[in-house]
Amino acid sequence: MTESLTIRRPDDWHVHLRDDAMLQGVVAHTARQFARAIVMPNLSPPVTTSASAAAYRDRIRAAVPDGIAFEPLMTAYLTDATDPDDLVRGKDEGVLTAAKLYPANATTNSAHGVTEIANLAPVLAAMEKAGLVLCVHGEVTTSDIDVFDREAVFIERHLSWIVRQFPGLKVVLEHITTGEGVDFVASAGPNVAGTITPQHLHINRNAMFVGGIRPHAYCLPVAKRETHRLALRKAATSGSGKFFLGTDSAPHARDAKESACGCAGIFNAPFALESYVQVFEEEGALDRFEQFASLAGPAFYGLPVNSGTVTLERGPVAVPDTIDAQGTPVVPFHAGETLNWRLRA
Ligand code: DOR
Ligand code: ZN
Repeated sequence: MTESLTIRRPDDWHVHLRDDAMLQGVVAHTARQFARAIVMPNLSPPVTTSASAAAYRDRIRAAVPDGIAFEPLMTAYLTDATDPDDLVRGKDEGVLTAAKLYPANATTNSAHGVTEIANLAPVLAAMEKAGLVLCVHGEVTTSDIDVFDREAVFIERHLSWIVRQFPGLKVVLEHITTGEGVDFVASAGPNVAGTITPQHLHINRNAMFVGGIRPHAYCLPVAKRETHRLALRKAATSGSGKFFLGTDSAPHARDAKESACGCAGIFNAPFALESYVQVFEEEGALDRFEQFASLAGPAFYGLPVNSGTVTLERGPVAVPDTIDAQGTPVVPFHAGETLNWRLRA
């Protein structure tokens, strides 16, 4: 039995770090595990310009504890009013790595999102030319579409169009949750990739309803049927360069989740690698974990792999019921469970 696994230092290609006290409370968890992270811009108000992304980057850097090397890779939130020249400037100045497409009202703080994707054409054309990656929250939002079908319908109605119209644009379908998402990414050209979260590899939609309503298993896109979870596990552990690690760690105060209208989001940053590696072991794919966690993402984004390594070793790690984020209790993914691998300090 493999007792330890040493891999290149990994990156998180999709994370929510928030701002102010929550940022102070959560950023060290991500920085302890990952060298770099693509930071989502859905603050309130959202990070919509290269100047606001630069300011947010500086706040993140200031919140990282001394002695930890961590590089936030910034994204701009696309709106109906995005200025393509500002995005290109942000890319040229080294501020922006990607821009994020949230269809309006798809999820937390997405009220300013894009209302008509076709109107984004000039922005997408400028991004294609400048080599700025498009990160996509792939869900339609109209109430006639069942919540469990929203990803598949988005792919059919919008993502196929984007990929067809802008063949040179690098597109990441974020937090894939369906077999349709896996198939789309796998069959698209090399400019299209997908990230996969730990929760969508571990849970199916039943987890939200076991013995009662389970708000800590609720995130968007919502977990789907077991067949989809199995398709995601196959894709993540396949060794393909098209699927890579993106936690979508999304902390919310415990009260905001355990509520009559609980927020979407799962806080998985504190034990993300431990959670993922368990899946790779269960699938007999430990030898492919480095590709998923540390190699495929940089290759897609055109960035160097990290220097240095991390080691995961077999051994129990007890996940606490809550984690204190600067005075705010947050319930982590796997709360109360024991995982089989731990990250060596
Ligand atoms: O579950 C989610 N939480 N999905 C998202 O897309 C946003 C995120 C958040 O910001 O809380
Ligand atoms: Zn997210």
